[in-house]
Amino acid sequence: MNFKRLLSYLIPIKIYQTKSDINKNLEITWNNGQLVLDSKNTNFSYGNLQKVLRFSLKKIGLSKISNFKTILVLGVAGGSVIKTLVDEFEYKGKITGVEIDAETINLANKYFGLDKIDNLQIIITDAEKFVKEINETYDLIIIDIFEDNIMPNFLFENTFISNILKILNTNGFVIFNTIVSDNSAQIRNEKFVKLIESKKRTLQRIPNLEGDNELLILN
Ligand SMILES: C[S@@+](CC[C@H](N)C(=O)[O-])C[C@H]1O[C@@H](n2cnc3c(N)ncnc32)[C@H](O)[C@@H]1O
Repeated sequence: MNFKRLLSYLIPIKIYQTKSDINKNLEITWNNGQLVLDSKNTNFSYGNLQKVLRFSLKKIGLSKISNFKTILVLGVAGGSVIKTLVDEFEYKGKITGVEIDAETINLANKYFGLDKIDNLQIIITDAEKFVKEINETYDLIIIDIFEDNIMPNFLFENTFISNILKILNTNGFVIFNTIVSDNSAQIRNEKFVKLIESKKRTLQRIPNLEGDNELLILN
């Protein structure tokens, strides 16, 4: 085992730092023997975030996921949920990843080998625009969009979620990773849940994961 990796069981060891127009700080760090991607104030990929998203996939179940033909991931960063799907769930269908910041994809390719995944297509664009314009449909849509540690407001608006439901196949699922770190975020999620209920969709809420994450699973 390399020395930095070994030492990272005691303290995190930063090995690379950069920035982009979108993300003011991006860091690759050895943490507990694993490489992770962090933004200025939060974990972007691998580490706790990967655990939360792995948990959501297990909730849907391996047998259903194996039968999905198309999966859309909004917010790719280092690509940890994509790695979980491909390496652990052995998912063979088509994965489309939409990411606004090309620099995170450079890091994903260099440090996490995302470009070695044959059934993955990455599109660099704004997810809000993508779901408005795309004509394809998906069996699973994973929404994991953060500007550093902030969730942009458009994610909770009727227009965005209506566009998501339009491109979701019958019997498909949506996994929405949210952070509830204060009272206003709690109120935001309650309002969003009412919006989903008004659309006669089934919604499963899984709060307090790895601290502040609340997963919303819709179908
Ligand atoms: C928490 S990370 C995603 C982690 C990833 N799902 C994984 O499994 O490792 C959030 C990502 O959302 C991206 N993002 C923020 N706003 C976006 C937008 N409007 N459209 C697409 N991606 C966006 C950020 O650049 C960042 O890479």
